[in-house]
Amino acid sequence: MNADMEKIWGKTFAKRTEKIKSSVIRELLKITQQPDIISFAGGLPAPELFPIREIEEACRYLLPRLGQKMLQYSPTEGIQQLKEFLAEKMQKYGVPAEPENILPTHGSQQALDLIGKVFINEGDKILTSRPTYLGAIQAWNAYAPEYMTVRMDDHGMTVDEMEEILKNHKIKFIYVLPNFHNPAGVTLSLERRKKITELAEKYDTFIVEDDPYGELRYEGEDLPTLISMKKERVIYLSTFSKTLAPGLRLAWITAPSFVIKKLVQAKQGADLHTGTFVQYIAWDVADRGIIKAHVKKIREVYKRRRDLMLEAMEKYFPKKGVKWTRPEGGMFLWVILPEGVDTAKLLEKAVERKVAYVPGFAFYPNADDGHNTMRLNFSNASEENIVEGIKRLGELLKEELGEK
Ligand SMILES: Cc1ncc(COP(=O)(O)O)c(C=O)c1O
Repeated sequence: MNADMEKIWGKTFAKRTEKIKSSVIRELLKITQQPDIISFAGGLPAPELFPIREIEEACRYLLPRLGQKMLQYSPTEGIQQLKEFLAEKMQKYGVPAEPENILPTHGSQQALDLIGKVFINEGDKILTSRPTYLGAIQAWNAYAPEYMTVRMDDHGMTVDEMEEILKNHKIKFIYVLPNFHNPAGVTLSLERRKKITELAEKYDTFIVEDDPYGELRYEGEDLPTLISMKKERVIYLSTFSKTLAPGLRLAWITAPSFVIKKLVQAKQGADLHTGTFVQYIAWDVADRGIIKAHVKKIREVYKRRRDLMLEAMEKYFPKKGVKWTRPEGGMFLWVILPEGVDTAKLLEKAVERKVAYVPGFAFYPNADDGHNTMRLNFSNASEENIVEGIKRLGELLKEELGEK
C-alpha cells in the first residue's frame, strides 16, 4: 500500500488509538526468534514441558462424548463444570467463591481489558507499582487513565507513599501483583497485603489482584491472597497460561457476582464467550489432577533454572553497583544497574553477542524511568543456554562498567 493511503487510513483511526502502542516486548520477541539468540526476553513457559499427550488424551476422551457441546457456542458466563471446578479451587485458597463469582476469559490479558472497559473513564487514576506489568498498561491505555505509582523494594510495592496518594487523590483501583511480580520477581509481604486491603477499605476503593504465578513457588510459604482477606473489594485474576499452556488462552476472574454480571455484558460485545472447546479441555485435565502433577514438574525444572541463573550471575556479573532480585517463584528476575547505564541502548550490543533481555523502562507506566534496569526470564532457556547467555551478558556489562 502506498504512503498516501497509509496517511488517509491514519486519519480515520479513533483518538483512543493514539495511546495504543505496540508493546516493546512483542517487538523484541521478533528479534529474539532468530534461532541463534539466547533470549531471556520473553515471558514464555518451557514448551518442552507442555502436557501434549495429556491434552491429546482429553480430546480423544471428550470429543466422542461431548463433541457437539464442545464445538457449539456457549454462554458468556462460561461452562458450568469449569466454573464449579474453579470456585472450589478458590475455596481451597480461602475465598468463599461460587460459580457466579467466576468468569472464564481469553487469558488474563482479556480480563485486564474488560476491567478497563467496565471501570476506567478518561482521566481516572489507577494506583500501581513502578515498575508494573506492561500488558496491563497496554490494555488500559486505550481508556486513557492516569497512573499514580509507588516504589518497590524486596517486599513488593511499598505502602508508605500509598496512603498519601489515597488521601490526596480519588483512586479508581489499586493494581497489585502479589506473587513473583512481573517484572520485578519479588513477593508482597503479608503485612503489606493486610495494609493494602485496609487502605482500600479506608479510602473506599478496590483492588485488582493479578496472580498468574502464585502456583509457581519454589521455596518459602504460600501467603494468603488479598481476595481471601477482603473479598468484597477485590477482583482476582489467574490463568492457565503458566500452569498448563498459554496457547489455550484461558484464564478466569473471581469477583463479587454483581461485578461479574457487568464484566459479562462487556465480554458479550468483545467475543460472545470464551472458547467452549478450551474450557472443556482445561476442565477435564484440571479435574483429573493432571494440572496438579504438571505444576509439580514445572516447579522442579524452573527452580533449577532459577538457581542456575542466580549462580551464573554471581559468577559472571559485575558486582559494583549492580543488584538483582532473588525470586521465590515465577519466571523473572530484575536487574538494577548503576544510574546512567541505558539498557535499551545496551540491548543492541547484547543482540550482537546473541543474547537478549527486556529493557526495564518498558515497565514504567509514566515514561522516562527505569533506564538502568532489565528483566530476565529464566523459564524458557535450557540450562546450558542460561549459563552461556549470562556469561555473555556479564562480559558485556563488565565492559560497559569498566570492570574488565
Ligand atoms: C502479571 C501478568 N498478568 C497477566 C498476564 C497475561 O496472562 P494470560 O496469558 O493469561 O493472558 C501475564 C502474562 O505474562 C502476566 O505476567
